[in-house]
Amino acid sequence: MTSTTRSPLIIGNWKMNASLGGSMVLLQALAHYKSSKACELAVCVPFPYLAQTQEVLAGSLVSWGAQDVSDQPQGAYTGEVSAAMLQDFACKWVLVGHSERRQRHAESDQLVADKAVRALACGITPVFCVGESDAEHEAGEAHDVVLRQLRPLLDLGADVVKQVVVAYEPVWAIGTGKSATPEQAQAVHAFIRECLKQSGAAEVRVLYGGSVNAANAKSLFAMPDIDGALVGGAALKAEEFLAIAAI
Ligand code: 13P
Repeated sequence: MTSTTRSPLIIGNWKMNASLGGSMVLLQALAHYKSSKACELAVCVPFPYLAQTQEVLAGSLVSWGAQDVSDQPQGAYTGEVSAAMLQDFACKWVLVGHSERRQRHAESDQLVADKAVRALACGITPVFCVGESDAEHEAGEAHDVVLRQLRPLLDLGADVVKQVVVAYEPVWAIGTGKSATPEQAQAVHAFIRECLKQSGAAEVRVLYGGSVNAANAKSLFAMPDIDGALVGGAALKAEEFLAIAAI
């Protein structure tokens, strides 16, 4: 995190965890967050907790968002949630293309870019997730995979790309306790940075995700192209999440 223009950003992804009561406790602990070094902090919560999240975090230094959005504006799309609905709850962020959605819901690279466009149209910043699987990692295909996943976004041009945040989350590091080493992550982040640069958007923030915790965050954040983190499990414990933000 050496850039002056790319301010640090840490986003918690609660995934399908917490309960109405549990999220209240967590949100109330986060609402008191005081940023000592301009580190932006945010949480992406399950849809049903957005109203509660807005109520508790409004006026705090912690922003919020959702974990998915429809690529369609409105209509007969049972079970989907539109960007305009997220806007109703003052969402600042939305994750698009998380590997768990790419895998379980067969989301294509193009669909993920379409979702990003839809979010931007409602003033919501997409956190565009990319990352290779275990097998692709073993085969040395990380760069090819992330470029393929980024391609439909990059094709939209600099004016669009400049408005997103990218999150590199190697699938083999998610929820495994086996984070990428800072050097492994930096190598892919530098590659992503180069792709962004060639598209005229070198200053887009690139977050790392995959088993980030208070113990390993410091060495990851020391890397020049890692601008923060997308945190899963450790974001469910307020103390640990705030400790990551304090690094
Ligand atoms: P973990 O931090 O639990 O590995 O999850 C990472 C992730 O998928 C965040 O989006």
